[in-house]
Amino acid sequence: MSKKQPKFETTTLWDFPTQNYGDRPHGDNRYPGVTPAFVIWNLIQRYTKEGDLVIDLMCGSGTTIDVCEEENRRCIGFDIVPYRNDIKQADARNLFLDNEIADFVFIDSPYSDNIKYNDHSDNIGNISCEDPRFFEELEGVAKEIYRILKPWKYMAWLIGDQAKKKKFVPVGFKLYSILENYFKPIDIICVSRHNQTSNTPVWHERARKYNFYLRGFKYLIIMQKVNK
Ligand SMILES: C[S@@+](CC[C@H](N)C(=O)[O-])C[C@H]1O[C@@H](n2cnc3c(N)ncnc32)[C@H](O)[C@@H]1O
Repeated sequence: MSKKQPKFETTTLWDFPTQNYGDRPHGDNRYPGVTPAFVIWNLIQRYTKEGDLVIDLMCGSGTTIDVCEEENRRCIGFDIVPYRNDIKQADARNLFLDNEIADFVFIDSPYSDNIKYNDHSDNIGNISCEDPRFFEELEGVAKEIYRILKPWKYMAWLIGDQAKKKKFVPVGFKLYSILENYFKPIDIICVSRHNQTSNTPVWHERARKYNFYLRGFKYLIIMQKVNK
């Protein structure tokens, strides 16, 4: 039986029960930190048309490529360590692309060193968000997005916060204030998080006992490149 089809979202709260929709895989839901395919589907309905070029700078298991192919959008996906042959190897801070070629940019970046993606020395996911260098590297990525995006076009960045050992880092707010220096803010969507490794009775009991919160959402920050 086919899985739930994507619904066009009209509010700023997106809550998808599964990573995938339809009968075919979009990305690989065994990949750590895989993006819900519904997120990318919704974004490209709003901000692109058929034939447009979508670029994902941190493509992971290729979710953006698969959604774009079905929706007749062109897509180039990069990652520091490509998971599949159709993903190009590159550092998101230094892509081998001309200026202003993208109609839309999507990125679901690491938000600290909480997930082990790979050991590559340029993997930003090996830097803790408690280290100021983490945000300097994200700013390098923001500059590259600005460079490759066509004027008046949109970008969307999915990011979460970190609360670890009683220390909270509002990663989403910090990234938002960096992006504001380059782009015009359009909106922030709250994307509900499911199927996390911490979604177990043991972790819920710890959250009660030690008085902390488990992460329940990620920010989807949407911004536009306007000519300055
Ligand atoms: C949250 S995952 C992306 C998940 C992906 N959207 C998917 O659906 O499978 C973040 C990715 O960022 C990649 N990454 C980390 N640092 C990078 C860099 N400097 N340049 C490009 N990719 C990088 C990691 O290898 C990882 O695959």
